[in-house]
Amino acid sequence: MKRFPNAPETRTQETEQRRSFPNNGKSRIRVIPETPELWKTPNAGLTRACYADNHRMKTVIAIANQKGGVGKTTTACALGVTLARAGERVLMVDMDPQSNLTSSFGVRDADGSLYRALRDEDPLPVIRLDEHLSLTPSSADLAKGESEFLAEPAASQFLLQTALAQTSLDPDTIVLLDCPPSLGILAINCLTAADRLLMAVHPGRYELDGLKRLQATVDRIKQKINPDLQTLGVVLTNCDLRKKITMLVLERITAVYPVLGLIGRDAQLQYACGDGTIRFLKDSRAMQEYANVAQEIKQLVWQNHPAQTTT
Ligand SMILES: Nc1ncnc2c1ncn2[C@@H]1O[C@H](COP(=O)(O)OP(=O)(O)OP(=O)(O)O)[C@@H](O)[C@H]1O
Ligand SMILES: [Mg+2]
Repeated sequence: MKRFPNAPETRTQETEQRRSFPNNGKSRIRVIPETPELWKTPNAGLTRACYADNHRMKTVIAIANQKGGVGKTTTACALGVTLARAGERVLMVDMDPQSNLTSSFGVRDADGSLYRALRDEDPLPVIRLDEHLSLTPSSADLAKGESEFLAEPAASQFLLQTALAQTSLDPDTIVLLDCPPSLGILAINCLTAADRLLMAVHPGRYELDGLKRLQATVDRIKQKINPDLQTLGVVLTNCDLRKKITMLVLERITAVYPVLGLIGRDAQLQYACGDGTIRFLKDSRAMQEYANVAQEIKQLVWQNHPAQTTT
C-alpha cells in the first residue's frame, strides 16, 4: 500500500506573502476589526501581519474534523509526544471544553484558564510537561466561550491567534491545536490561528461528506480571514485493516488529500490516553505509526520554512 501518494504543498508562496507584510512593531496590540460580522474583517490582514512578522518561525497546526470521536485528540496527544521525542518543541493547545487532551496528560486542576486568556483577561496558561513538550489545558468554562464569543461585537475569530501572539514561545515551536467537534467559533478560532490543517478521519460511511463540509469552511476562512492556511493532509485513525470500509475510505481520500498515515486500532494507546499516561507509552504499534507521521510532518513543516532560508 502506498501511504504517501501526493506531493505536499510547498511554503514558497506563503513565505512570499509573509515577507510582504509590513512590520508595524506592535506585536502585543490587539487589533479589533470594526465590523461585527464574522466573515467581514477589514483589519484581518493587519492582525495577521503583526502575528506573522513577530512569530515568523512558529508553526501552528490545527487538528480538525467537525465530526466527533474520529481521533482528533488522540492524534494531537500522540503527535505531541512523538514530535517532542523527535526533538521538536511542541505546545499542545486543548481548544475543546471536553478537556480530553488535558486529561490525557493527567492534568486535572490547572491554574489559569484558557477561557480568560481568550478574553484577554489572563495570559495563556502553559504547563511545561518536559523539556520539549508543553500543554495549554482546557477547562469547563471554555464551553461558555462557544456562545459568548459569537455574541461579542468584534474580532471573535481572532481571540486564539491574539493570545498565542502574546505568549512567549521558543521561535521554532510547533503548536498543535486540538479542535472541538464542531464548526463553531472555537473551531474557527483554531483555523484562523493555524497556518496548517491536519484532518483526523476515522474510516466510516459518511466521512467524505463530512470532509466536504470541513473543506467548505476552510475555503471560506482562507478567502476571508486566513490566506496562509494550508492543508497538510489527512491522518486515518483507529483503523481496522480487516474491514473493507477502511480500504475504500483510504482510496477515496487519497484521490483528494495527501494521507500522512494510517493508524491501526491499538488498545494500549486508548488506555494510555484515558489513563493520563500517554507521555510514557513507548512500545505501542500505534505510537510507532504516529512517530512516522511526526517525521512526515517535520519534513513538510520545515521544508522551505523561513528559518531554513534565513542566513
Ligand atoms: N488508534 C486508536 N486505537 C484505539 N482507540 C482509539 C484510537 N484512536 C482513537 N481511539 C479512541 O476513539 C475514541 C475517540 O477518539 P478521540 O477522543 O481522539 O476523538 P475526537 O475526534 O477527539 O473526539 P471528540 O470529537 O469528542 O473530541 C476514544 O475513545 C479514543 O481512545
Ligand atoms: Mg477530542
